[in-house]
Amino acid sequence: MGFLNVCPHRGAKIIREDVGKGEILRCPYHGWTFNMEGKFLGAPMQRGIYQGVDTSSFGMFPIRCETYKGLVFCTIDSNATLDEFLGDMKFFIDIVAGRSEGLVFSSPQRWIVRVNWKTIVDNFIGDSWHFLTAHGWLGEVGLGIQDLKLTSITGVIRVKGGHGVLFTGPSADDYPDIPRPLFYPLWWPNLVEKAKVKLTQREFDVWKKYGTYEMLGHVFPNMAFGNVAYTIDSEPPVPILTFRLWRPISTFETEIWTWLAFDKDEPENLKKKAIDTFLRLFGAAGSVEHDDVAMWESMTENSSKLSSLNLKLKYYGGMNQSPTQFEGPGELYYGGNNEGNTISFFKEYLNYLEGEELDDM
Ligand code: FES
Ligand SMILES: [Fe+2]
Repeated sequence: MGFLNVCPHRGAKIIREDVGKGEILRCPYHGWTFNMEGKFLGAPMQRGIYQGVDTSSFGMFPIRCETYKGLVFCTIDSNATLDEFLGDMKFFIDIVAGRSEGLVFSSPQRWIVRVNWKTIVDNFIGDSWHFLTAHGWLGEVGLGIQDLKLTSITGVIRVKGGHGVLFTGPSADDYPDIPRPLFYPLWWPNLVEKAKVKLTQREFDVWKKYGTYEMLGHVFPNMAFGNVAYTIDSEPPVPILTFRLWRPISTFETEIWTWLAFDKDEPENLKKKAIDTFLRLFGAAGSVEHDDVAMWESMTENSSKLSSLNLKLKYYGGMNQSPTQFEGPGELYYGGNNEGNTISFFKEYLNYLEGEELDDM
């Protein structure tokens, strides 16, 4: 169980830091204190103010939290179980968070963009098409993956519940010589051996076969992870693991949280390479991510100014494609850019807004 960061007295934020340890929690407004179980302990001059008042209901507001592979998920829905909510998405979370002895996270980078959060989901859950254009300069100046056409080969996996996965790069059947998964055999072969033991055979096989340059997962509604291999110099692509959260601030603003994650015992040279490569390309100051944010901001600006025109945007990519045979859970659409993951996310979101089931896609 966890607690909302809302003081039961007037609703102030009780905790102002992201990390830390303590014995008690104290609201900075009027000084109400709570123990770590959320129980109200007391307040300044309480005896006079609350004379004869039963304070037993003054505890912090509880919220249900569960963990999966070290990741913490919280909900205000008292009926939902995390197991059901994640469903088949657990298969892909296992691949990034269950393949070693555990993960170590950096402090998050946090920055605010003038973007509606769902626009970011649209990109992460199934769009690699934009690599060729929005990030086209990368190949021209010799950064990133030299042959961007390879990264624009997409496998989109539709996972029930509005989740989705995106693999980029050719599969092992087409380009067997690329070190898979994600160039780990070059940088850290022991992780691959460890993963063989920790993952199920199916999980390992999917990671190895499709994990070429990118494996992005999007957990409904606003969490994502990416296991990617990129380079900023003449060395082979470096495997990087990142986790994301899109925190809506308003209709037109989102705070992006970005963590770098490392498998326990990750070699220092690989960590350093991953940090350097990641910071150059991704995150608040990353040149690749700036390409994306510029597009997203323009989309949000247009939709905010032109919403009254009720324009219909074209989500037809891959609509006549059939799923290919796939070893893992979900439906795999491989080879082209399939925009169905975005549609399935939006349907699930609408479902929650309307509180009723929509027809299956
Ligand atoms: S709002 Fe927290 S003590 Fe008053
Ligand atoms: Fe991008």
